[in-house]
Amino acid sequence: MTSMPIPMSEATATVWSRWFITASLRTTPRLSTSFRLQEQGVRFQTATDTEVIAQLIAQHLNGDLMSAVRKVLPLLKGTYGLAIVSPRDPDVIIGARLGSPLVLGIGQGENFLASDPSALAGHTNKVVYLHDHQVCILGRDEWTIQDLNPDRAPPSISIEDIDWDVGDADKGTFEHFMLKEIYEQPEALENAMRGRLSDTDASAHFGGLNLDTQALRGMDRMIITACGTSYHAGLVGEYLLEEIARIPVDVEYASEFRYRNRPIERNTLMLAITQSGETADTLAALRESKRKGHPTLALCNVVGSTIAREADGGVYLHAGPEIGVASTKAFTSQVMVLTMLALYLGRMRNLSSVQGLRIVEELRAMPAMIQRTLACDDAVRRIAEKYFQANNFLYLGRQYLFPVALEGALKLKEISYIHAEGYPAAEMKHGPIALVDEETPSVFLIPRGAVFEKVMSNLEEIKARGGPVIAIASENDEEVAQQVEDVIYMPEVPEYLQPLVAAIPLQLLAYHIALLRGCDVDRPRNLAKSVTVE
Ligand code: G6P
Repeated sequence: MTSMPIPMSEATATVWSRWFITASLRTTPRLSTSFRLQEQGVRFQTATDTEVIAQLIAQHLNGDLMSAVRKVLPLLKGTYGLAIVSPRDPDVIIGARLGSPLVLGIGQGENFLASDPSALAGHTNKVVYLHDHQVCILGRDEWTIQDLNPDRAPPSISIEDIDWDVGDADKGTFEHFMLKEIYEQPEALENAMRGRLSDTDASAHFGGLNLDTQALRGMDRMIITACGTSYHAGLVGEYLLEEIARIPVDVEYASEFRYRNRPIERNTLMLAITQSGETADTLAALRESKRKGHPTLALCNVVGSTIAREADGGVYLHAGPEIGVASTKAFTSQVMVLTMLALYLGRMRNLSSVQGLRIVEELRAMPAMIQRTLACDDAVRRIAEKYFQANNFLYLGRQYLFPVALEGALKLKEISYIHAEGYPAAEMKHGPIALVDEETPSVFLIPRGAVFEKVMSNLEEIKARGGPVIAIASENDEEVAQQVEDVIYMPEVPEYLQPLVAAIPLQLLAYHIALLRGCDVDRPRNLAKSVTVE
């Protein structure tokens, strides 16, 4: 061991993409290690725990990078997904994982390492998912995967084909991935439904649930765990599953659920919702549920992701890679799959074939409805121009549209950095109404439906206090238009399907406001596409 300062150039844990920077390279080596290294004269150049690993590797480096890595990895506590490069041999990358995802992409004359296969779209379709305690070495033309323990037999390797389209990796004619993905929603919903709706059964079918009809019929309750946008989709799912399938549902933040020892009734099905299939908290919640002996399902977008592999069964969204950090098409695809799941479970319980068939037909009409909703883009941009300098926004909706209000507020926060609160519209009188003034716009989700009159009276309370209102209303609703400063119309659809269309103007509003504020729409500050650390 040397006591001389070790320059970073000796060995560096390098990051290439946004997926790596904020997610996979996070590790938790003991702080005491960094103190020990400092005592030995090592000067740290960053404040990240990742550098401790680079410095440790440098300390153990004696010509052979792989053997230094093999010595250092057993010293680390916590989770890691590492890509290690030495400037002495820049054509070689060593990868290692424990707890954080790592996927190897196999190209021609080039190979890749990423924490999320979406990062490989446009580069290769062939991937190998690394497992914990495995290391890999990549050169331009060759790659190998080994067990960290050299005494173990070489791991069996399965190369998987990912179903990308050629256009998935570029923005096409769109300025940003987020906008492209917003516009892809009609197609994403078609893909989510493809082959899953049956007129004969007046129901939906899923290939990978891995639970027989008896088990599903005997289920008394469902707990949904998820994070971020997927959590909001889960909340829509709660309304859908309770109303259509008459199953009691609880939705929990995965980060809370994993450390809570809530009593869970027998016959409870656990459902994890996750676009990436790699979110650390959702994975931990899933594992905890399995440990307790509950059947688990997952709704994932990324095929072959850790959660997709570890759940007992699941449903893929087939939304295609989502590259923009702010989730858009994954949200509507999740809601679509949850609606189909509610239909499927409802048909086992309380729904007649007539009711089932009506839902099947209404679902089939949704891609066209989304397409029609996208025509609001220009109107939304003009409204964004009016309000983009506001410092606070309220998003208000009731019933099925309460989770959409939360999601609208989240979209605005994520990409424009404006403070926004999503609330059930009637709840605002218990606090948030104090925020209302002439500078604070309220976005009201107020299409026609069972609670229209109630939401209207909530809206009037805001107007009475001088707050400007942007209404998302049913097409041609003059009554609403007369009450508010600005209105965005959405096509009339049955109430249980309103989240799918109402989400669109809110995504576009966040997009245009962020653009006008000069924000980096696809890569908002401090956020990562998949969060593989706690
Ligand atoms: C991150 C992303 C969000 C996403 C959340 C959950 O915070 O920035 O867009 O909703 O993770 O991700 P998941 O992949 O589990 O749906």
